[in-house]
Amino acid sequence: DTYDETYRPQVHYSPPTQWMNDPNGMVYFEGEYHLFYQYYPDSNVWGPMHWGHAVSPDLLEWENLPIALYPDSLGWIFSGSAVVDHDNTSGLGTDDQPPLVAIFTYHNDPLEKAGRDDFQYQGIAYSTDRGRTWTKYAGNPVVPNEEPIRDFRDPKVIWDAEREQWLMVFAAQDHVMFWRSDNLIDWEHLSDFGKTYGAHGGVWECPDIFPLQVEGSDETKWVLLLSINPGGPNGGSATQYFVGDFDGTDFTLDPDFATEVSDSAAVWLDYGRDNYAGVTWSDVPKEDGRRIFIGWMSNWDYARDVPTTVWRSAMTVPRTLSLQQTAEGYRLFSNPIAELTQLRGAPEMFHGEPSLELTTASGAHELELVYALDESVTTPFGVALRNAEGDALEIGYDPERKAFYSDRRGAGANDFADSFAPDRTWAPRLSSSDTLRMHLIFDRASVELFADGGSTVVTEIFFPIESLDQLTAVGDNPVIEGTSYPLRSIWK
Ligand code: FRU
Repeated sequence: DTYDETYRPQVHYSPPTQWMNDPNGMVYFEGEYHLFYQYYPDSNVWGPMHWGHAVSPDLLEWENLPIALYPDSLGWIFSGSAVVDHDNTSGLGTDDQPPLVAIFTYHNDPLEKAGRDDFQYQGIAYSTDRGRTWTKYAGNPVVPNEEPIRDFRDPKVIWDAEREQWLMVFAAQDHVMFWRSDNLIDWEHLSDFGKTYGAHGGVWECPDIFPLQVEGSDETKWVLLLSINPGGPNGGSATQYFVGDFDGTDFTLDPDFATEVSDSAAVWLDYGRDNYAGVTWSDVPKEDGRRIFIGWMSNWDYARDVPTTVWRSAMTVPRTLSLQQTAEGYRLFSNPIAELTQLRGAPEMFHGEPSLELTTASGAHELELVYALDESVTTPFGVALRNAEGDALEIGYDPERKAFYSDRRGAGANDFADSFAPDRTWAPRLSSSDTLRMHLIFDRASVELFADGGSTVVTEIFFPIESLDQLTAVGDNPVIEGTSYPLRSIWK
């Protein structure tokens, strides 16, 4: 594969061929960031799941490795996580060679087809050769589905340093379950969270939990990420989150946060339609200290139908998450990892009503746009990205609705699924600053908007035959300060 096909992302991870969904098992170990992913090597639609595998020294350039986990007699390999078992608590490595341990869901298709409810349960596998080969634990499953619960999946394991215990969170239909262990093998149920909080328009999937320091303070809060399908703010699948505290047994919502959420409202990590099942890296070095996130850049509404051949789906750019105290309470901010600036070529500056040709060899570029907001600005403004075929993608802000929008209705192929581009996508603005900032990462077939320092995020895919490289103004609010950068391909 050349990574140069029509629509092939140039600054995003995508699998060499065939179907990919959720990112899995992200862990940093001995100089490598591992990215595993839900993979079906026999087709470019979803099927019996494996874990595909890639590694990167810098989260930019990826080396594809052989499939890490294959289905076995216990089932297909669904989503999960991985950790470095530094003290060899599992006994699956040695003191000199701590094992990498992957914790995943087995999905037993014959049991499901037989009409049973206990067809998902959690298993583990380990590697003592830097993730190159994996052995399934002989005593699997480590968390059987005894109750049983039909949707019982996507374990994320972290080391809870305060209590010196392994903590597992996974999704159980309409809530998450917390379990604890001393050795990653014997697990004990601690508590449940979520039945009466957050959005419940669909099944709960792919949780993540981590402590995060509140910016500019020495306070630490716990963040719970939670993907749901369907029920997203603009349709289909999306990821909400909760901020609270964890005492070693129970997760409790922060009182300020609690007033914000109910059965009908939620706080979303990303308002775009194409950021799902995202979780964060384990074992990022303490000196680094970042909480790094990556999501699947698609939506279950149409993921199987998008017009790519050879491969299907890409990941978002890796993002740094931060927690900030805002007028609305604690909120997660997302920004592209700093490493991404290494892909930049020479900047071009502009202002006023932009009309320029974005010269990029790869088809990927980055834009920073600064606008002033005052009462005189009442109608939508922003930018459109066009090509010679007449395709146009619009990204802007509507002062009356106090919301950003993305409009991909005219941005290329969209007749493959009715659910793909029925309308604009809307994202409420969190900031109330009178300076409005849009930071945009464009690839051949995606846009990621990080507005106002990462407080409002929109990720969307689109499919123009030719790259969108003509930048024009929408509305009549001039750009005060504009910068564009070509981005070089990570696939060289
Ligand atoms: C989320 C999900 C997970 C599951 C996996 C199966 O997209 O449905 O809940 O483990 O995909 O591929």
